Amino acid sequence: MKVLVMFVVCLPLLWITSCSDSETTENEEAFLQSSTYGSKSHNTGSDCMQCHKKGGGAKGIFTVAGSVYQLDKSRPNPNGLVFLSALANGREQEVQLNVDGLGNFYTTETVAFGKGLYPQHKSSKDTIRYMNDAITNGSCNSCHGRTTDVIYNY
Ligand code: HEC
Ligand code: HEC
Repeated sequence: MKVLVMFVVCLPLLWITSCSDSETTENEEAFLQSSTYGSKSHNTGSDCMQCHKKGGGAKGIFTVAGSVYQLDKSRPNPNGLVFLSALANGREQEVQLNVDGLGNFYTTETVAFGKGLYPQHKSSKDTIRYMNDAITNGSCNSCHGRTTDVIYNY
């Protein structure tokens, strides 16, 4: 009888502990990716990976993320596409991401940067802007809006 009581009391306790233990990991390991017209993102212009990194406290560890603006460099530029290509101005795109309705893009998908990938942005008005240098770090807003201009397009 004693054993049975312990079993009944401890089992739910164990379950609760293991549940809350795995919560942070599950949060970080969640698969997230931006979609056209999506509105789940926030903090447009901020360096997303300051929080969306391992141990950063936010849901999802982003491999590529950032924000795009209109020509005035202040209004968000929603619903375009971001590409990463192995070649400068390349048409072979290794990665394609939809910019969401708030001008942000993000993914938790593993990205093989290798020796570097060249970013491009294609706006919803179909204008493409190419970055001339390759990147090995997908945290676009760690440079854009900080050490260089924001990403902007028509
Ligand atoms: C200061 C920290 C911080 C910064 C910077 C930040 N985030 Fe977050 N983000 C959070 C936290 C905290 C949550 C709350 C959700 C959670 O952890 O469950 C969240 C949630 C989200 C979600 C919702 C996830 C879901 O489906 O529930 C998205 C999408 C997102 N952030 C995208 C971004 C993007 C894109 C950027 C950069 C433009 C960014 N975040 C910058 C802390 C941050
Ligand atoms: C290490 C810093 C750095 C990172 C990280 C970075 N950029 Fe850039 N980006 C620059 C600089 C500097 C320029 C201007 C010179 C050039 O084109 O190389 C630029 C130019 C651009 C341009 C063309 C000019 C414009 O603003 O329209 C686009 C588009 C662009 N980057 C997109 C991205 C995207 C998308 C990411 C993330 C996937 C990214 N960049 C990550 C530094 C960075």
